[in-house]
Amino acid sequence: MNKIPPLDLGQQYKLIAQEVSLAVGKVLASGYYIGGTEVEQFEQQFGKYIGVSECIGCNSGTDALFLALRALDIGPGDEVIVPVFTFIATAEVVSAVGATPVFVDIEANTFNLDVNQVETAITSQTKAIIPVHLFGQSVNMTRLMAIARTHHLAVIEDCAQATGATWDGQKVGYIGDIGCFSFFPTKNLGACGDGGAVTTNDQAIAAKIRIIKDHGQSSKYNSAVVGINSRLDALQAAILNVKLRYLDQWNAQRDRIARRYHQLLGVVPGLILPQELPDGQSVWNQYTVRVMPRSSENGSSWIFDRNVVRAQLQEQGISTMIYYPVPLHLQPLYQNLDDQPGQFPVAEQLCQEVLSLPIFPELTTVQQDCVIYAIKDCLSQ
Ligand SMILES: Cc1ncc(COP(=O)(O)O)c(C=O)c1O
Repeated sequence: MNKIPPLDLGQQYKLIAQEVSLAVGKVLASGYYIGGTEVEQFEQQFGKYIGVSECIGCNSGTDALFLALRALDIGPGDEVIVPVFTFIATAEVVSAVGATPVFVDIEANTFNLDVNQVETAITSQTKAIIPVHLFGQSVNMTRLMAIARTHHLAVIEDCAQATGATWDGQKVGYIGDIGCFSFFPTKNLGACGDGGAVTTNDQAIAAKIRIIKDHGQSSKYNSAVVGINSRLDALQAAILNVKLRYLDQWNAQRDRIARRYHQLLGVVPGLILPQELPDGQSVWNQYTVRVMPRSSENGSSWIFDRNVVRAQLQEQGISTMIYYPVPLHLQPLYQNLDDQPGQFPVAEQLCQEVLSLPIFPELTTVQQDCVIYAIKDCLSQ
């Protein structure tokens, strides 16, 4: 039995089924499945939503990051600063273009990269920084942009988990040089398959991305650079056009759920709730708490209650997720780098403590109460 899932896309579909069917039917009847008006409309509408002049649809958030790095001519010999606690895609794309990811530890209260540590990671080879707005909350972009400008570094925002989030009144994806979005189904704006977008106010960068994402062709059958095939397809664009109209409403519902968790879990012993920065508005792609470890009775080891809480919730049909169990420097992929266990203590500790609770717009108060009671029950034992 799965009483409370981590998210419920079937419920969301029920609310918009008619509109989605109409939009999909229109594309199918048109006979044009690649490119076309739905893709153009989405690029225009999404660019407007973020506040940028240029928006390019592509196949995924991973491709969006890859295209951004390629457009900035980042490659072998270059270094790119990334947080050590994120989904693998953020660093993987740096490796995929032949550059080296340089990891930076995170802040324990926001889970985002520790901007204070960025400057010490900069070398003469550093070309860019990729701040990740993890779990829906913006990085402190005022400070990060100041550091980047001082050192003449490009900023590629990884907005995969933060569509609609703001920093100082601006949408993420507008603030850096390039914004990269994922429309993977679990994201705040999710397609019914893969999808992504790149946003920028720089026309030259946008022009380069349009060429690279289309086999390096500057005109039909005329390729000057190595490109890839990365398309947001027409069916996904049609669905995203419908869903974009609901995004603010869904984000507001997520916010209400997050406030309720704050309010009702605030005084549970052993539990640390996510902290928001005053200048940002999170869109709560995840509501991630920390379950603090306890020392064993004889004090010789630590007991990680997170796994106990998770198992007990699962027994009651409540699904939770662990984002992320392993920091990037300890991934087998990055064993060739010099980073050692213990080098990023905050991320390493949080990997043992984090637990993402169910949060999605359709989560009912009754369901949320079940989660809250179950956690309280578990931690007060
Ligand atoms: C922080 C982050 N960056 C990048 C990606 C990659 O997006 P996609 O799955 O659309 O390739 C994800 C997706 O989970 C993500 O969470």
